[in-house]
Amino acid sequence: MEAVTRTKVKDLLRTEPGTEVLAKGWVRTKRGNKNVSFIALNDGSTINNIQIVVDVASFDDDLLKKITTGACIAAYGTLVASQGSGQAVEIQARKLVLYGEADPDTYPLQKKGHSMEFLRSIAHLRPRTNTFGAVLRIRHAMAFAIHKYFNDKGFVYLHTPLITASDCEGAGEMFQVTTLDMNNVPRKEDGSIDYSQDFFGKQASLTVSGQLEGELGAMALGEIYTFGPTFRAENSNTPRHLAEFWMIEPEMAFYEIEDNMVLAEDFIKSLVRYALENCMDDLKFLNDMFDKELIERLESVVKTEFVRLTYTEGIRILEESGEKFEFPVSWGVDLQSEHERYLVEKHFKRPVIMTDYPKDIKAFYMKQNDDGKTVRGMDVLFPKIGEIIGGSERESSLEKLEARIDELGMSHSTLEWYLDTRRFGSAPHSGFGLGFERLLLFVTGMSNIRDVIPFPRTPKNCEF
Ligand code: 4AD
Ligand code: MG
Repeated sequence: MEAVTRTKVKDLLRTEPGTEVLAKGWVRTKRGNKNVSFIALNDGSTINNIQIVVDVASFDDDLLKKITTGACIAAYGTLVASQGSGQAVEIQARKLVLYGEADPDTYPLQKKGHSMEFLRSIAHLRPRTNTFGAVLRIRHAMAFAIHKYFNDKGFVYLHTPLITASDCEGAGEMFQVTTLDMNNVPRKEDGSIDYSQDFFGKQASLTVSGQLEGELGAMALGEIYTFGPTFRAENSNTPRHLAEFWMIEPEMAFYEIEDNMVLAEDFIKSLVRYALENCMDDLKFLNDMFDKELIERLESVVKTEFVRLTYTEGIRILEESGEKFEFPVSWGVDLQSEHERYLVEKHFKRPVIMTDYPKDIKAFYMKQNDDGKTVRGMDVLFPKIGEIIGGSERESSLEKLEARIDELGMSHSTLEWYLDTRRFGSAPHSGFGLGFERLLLFVTGMSNIRDVIPFPRTPKNCEF
């Protein structure tokens, strides 16, 4: 009997009764009476548990006592049709092996429901809860679906650097990377820091975006995408901001802003569709536990056409709404998530792609419109989330790009390599960035971005 190999719970639940099986996993609950024990075992392969039925008389008392919530065990036995409700099959145990105990007095994940705040404080154990198991499986499925989507379309996955000397978004939100001795920083005559003595011989940081290097890839390979961690030292303590988040950034030669919008809409819809087709068990659990409209919302996004709206029209709608916003609106202001959500949730009741923003609230690389005031940027705005995608058509004219860099007082010298794309064989091109965790907020219905990434990094928080 011991020669049986382990079957994952997900597969056990689809196996014909009558088979000799071996399950391994962590005990979720144990209940029963002095004659029979029922162990609910989970191994992370599915939200569902396999029930193990133990005839108490045939097992060592001491062993059974140690099989408590959180303990890790192996269960050998026969898969039988379940007599109880709630599961089709269960294991009639013949032998149990205890791998690791979990002392009931100290193991923090006992049966009762825990607050999300408490679970964040034990992020090293929270994957063992139903909620985080579901979220992390969906996170995996979405990552896979992203690679599949672009691979099917012939995009090349380009690995852009995480350490960089340029600030793509120009927002000054970069984490510095240095090996200088902070207690004895070398200085130049004028008192400024002497970065020539630093590891890279100059000031370096963690990237806020792979876009600039992505553009170089697009101008050679045609269509590329990046998918990796990005870092922002913005002091935003909100349910939608992380200091370390993952971003997907496609960049395409010969795409104008309209092509960019079509791709963004199709991309998001196809990811949501993938979740509906492949993650239903987990979605149902999250729908029942947290957000009764989750599945309905996902199904509706797949079906509805996104609204196309210019920033100027959007501002007019907001001004005429009669709504009291915390941040007042007028042409030129950067939209807050309350404004974005008003347009999406109240006014249009569907996702919005907003375009043609004032140049002063957008990055230097965006294509300048003829009006001299706006640029060809586009943000995709989503219910519950606000901005989920930010992108643009890129300025392809060397002259205009250099003029904008001057206007903003940025340094040319750190961007010469980037400007070469416009010097040599420049082409119209576009791209966008999808915040992976913002996508996951939408797909899982979780309300805090700290709960869709295994180990969140936020201001004053770098545990684990
Ligand atoms: O709008 P952003 O800043 O755009 C860029 O970085 C461009 N370089 C992208 C491109 O065109 N290739 O960021 C893109 C997306 C946002 O729409 C949002 O979803 C997400 O990244 N994002 C964040 N997600 C979590 N925490 C943060 N602090 C985020 N900042 C941006
Ligand atoms: Mg943005």
